[in-house]
Amino acid sequence: MRLLVTGGLGYVGSFAARHLAGAGHEVTILDDLSTGHRRAAGKLPVVIADCRDVATVSGVLSHHRIEAVLHFAGLSLVGASVADPAAYYAANVGGSLGLLEAMRRAGVDRIVFSSSAAVYGNPSTQPIPESAPLAPMNPYGRSKAMVEGILRDAAAAGQVRAACLRYFNAAGASRSGDLGEDHHPETHLIPRLLAAAREGQEFTVHGKDYATPDGTAVRDYIHVEDLAEAHARALTLLEKTPFTALNLGTGRGYSVLEVLQTAETLLGKKIRSKFGARRSGDPDTLVASTNECKKTMNWSPINSNIEVILKSSILWHSNNVRS
Ligand SMILES: NC(=O)c1ccc[n+]([C@@H]2O[C@H](COP(=O)([O-])OP(=O)(O)OC[C@H]3O[C@@H](n4cnc5c(N)ncnc54)[C@H](O)[C@@H]3O)[C@@H](O)[C@H]2O)c1
Repeated sequence: MRLLVTGGLGYVGSFAARHLAGAGHEVTILDDLSTGHRRAAGKLPVVIADCRDVATVSGVLSHHRIEAVLHFAGLSLVGASVADPAAYYAANVGGSLGLLEAMRRAGVDRIVFSSSAAVYGNPSTQPIPESAPLAPMNPYGRSKAMVEGILRDAAAAGQVRAACLRYFNAAGASRSGDLGEDHHPETHLIPRLLAAAREGQEFTVHGKDYATPDGTAVRDYIHVEDLAEAHARALTLLEKTPFTALNLGTGRGYSVLEVLQTAETLLGKKIRSKFGARRSGDPDTLVASTNECKKTMNWSPINSNIEVILKSSILWHSNNVRS
């Protein structure tokens, strides 16, 4: 298919773009470079534009005769969304509305949307089924839930066919170490841990009073290459189902201390650490129920063992030391 990947210069989008191109799709990337990196595109064609620029985006869709859009573009820092909610709603909801209007003008109706486990808030049932109530705890999560609602309504009206993929914690890097996570600032556990280990700095574990076995937050880490394959399957699913919302996770959670200890074992050294304050809006546990994805897309993660994730991240970080 001819595909537009918005946010394809970012972490998850660049893996999906590469994977889909490798599977024979014709991929064009659209990105405003706000948090992305030009080199993440490799040899794929890139248009630098904001999703809210409806005229430009509809022109790109028409020019490349795009058949489906994979919409990764957005802002994704929970703390920043609490500090400046309007900017988050403008980027995530406004960006999605701009894109939908551009798709309408260009006659494109298929969309796969990057949603998030953040739509669930702090759910009482673990692993979390897709049927759990959406109760986001911060503007970032609310912006994702809003876009899901918009897509559900647009699908019911026959305007689009949409798959909302609720990622749990995207993690890992390519096996060759040439593509990986590069956020500034970095808030995600694994790159923060590896940076602390490399620089000999003390690592801060946020919170030790979560309602979990060891008191630190438990998350479900999913390898970006598994996420990429799930997007390929979601494109097929769009042909059968006008609207779906699916979890992308492994069904197995790891606490911060478990990840820290596994990283120490793989690196063969101790990472100095201390406990700091909890981050506001951080739920205790987020682990995906994976049944629905298996059933509807015949998709299960194959690279998401925590050691595989950490080994690939260690290679990427050792290849990409910042000066
Ligand atoms: N990384 C995760 O663990 C995770 C988990 C759940 C959901 N998500 C969602 O997945 C998507 C990708 O996440 P990521 O970690 O790759 O983020 P990222 O910041 O690495 O990538 C986002 C990309 O979108 C681009 N972008 C942002 N706003 C844009 C706009 N208005 N127009 C055009 N381009 C724009 C950025 O330049 C960047 O290249 C996001 O929507 C995020 O909310 C990520």
